[in-house]
Amino acid sequence: MLIFADTADTALLAELNDTGLIDGVTTNPTLIAKSGRNILEVTKEICAMIDGPVSAEVAATEFDQMVAEGEKLAKIADNVVIKVPLTVDGLKATRVFSDQGLMTNVTLCFSVTQALLAAKAGATFVSPFVGRLDDRGEDGMQLIRDIRTVFDNYEFETAILAASLRNTTHVAQAAIAGADCATLPPAVIKAMFQHDLTDKGLETFLADWASTGQSIL
Ligand code: E4P
Repeated sequence: MLIFADTADTALLAELNDTGLIDGVTTNPTLIAKSGRNILEVTKEICAMIDGPVSAEVAATEFDQMVAEGEKLAKIADNVVIKVPLTVDGLKATRVFSDQGLMTNVTLCFSVTQALLAAKAGATFVSPFVGRLDDRGEDGMQLIRDIRTVFDNYEFETAILAASLRNTTHVAQAAIAGADCATLPPAVIKAMFQHDLTDKGLETFLADWASTGQSIL
């Protein structure tokens, strides 16, 4: 499963990217607002830093405007993925981008039937939002499992990009469910490295090693 960072904070991104484990980035209007930066500038900076796909979201809701915005975003760099909301106009724009060979990420997906339409529109990625379904008492992860089944049934090539993942349990479940990628807030990526038994075990190993008086180098 590919790991994408869900952030427009370039300082945090640089820190995460140093691990060599970040496969891509997703942003959205909320994250751009949080960064306080211009979308074109920050997207350009992220695309230069990250080798993999970088999603930048259109702000328009009407087809013509979406296409114009998406084409402008795509010109920033070859690794830009045009992110569009899962609406009728969004899927019409997805088809246009797909026909032009541009990458797309259809976002705000909350049902299997929406995902099916995104795949039929030729989306490169579809982003089902797990946490937001959990927030209202539904089983968000079941959506990932169901989309996996449908995409496999019909051999759709659209990648399932599990989104709105809030903790490491979500990440593990998304991987088990067969999501192709997961986009994660930096704090969740950092949490993936951690386990108290790792810390405890290392502490013991270091103390025992020190008692030997040996040195490897
Ligand atoms: C990713 O593309 C989404 O923008 C993001 O995962 C949404 O997460 P949230 O529901 O925690 O805001």
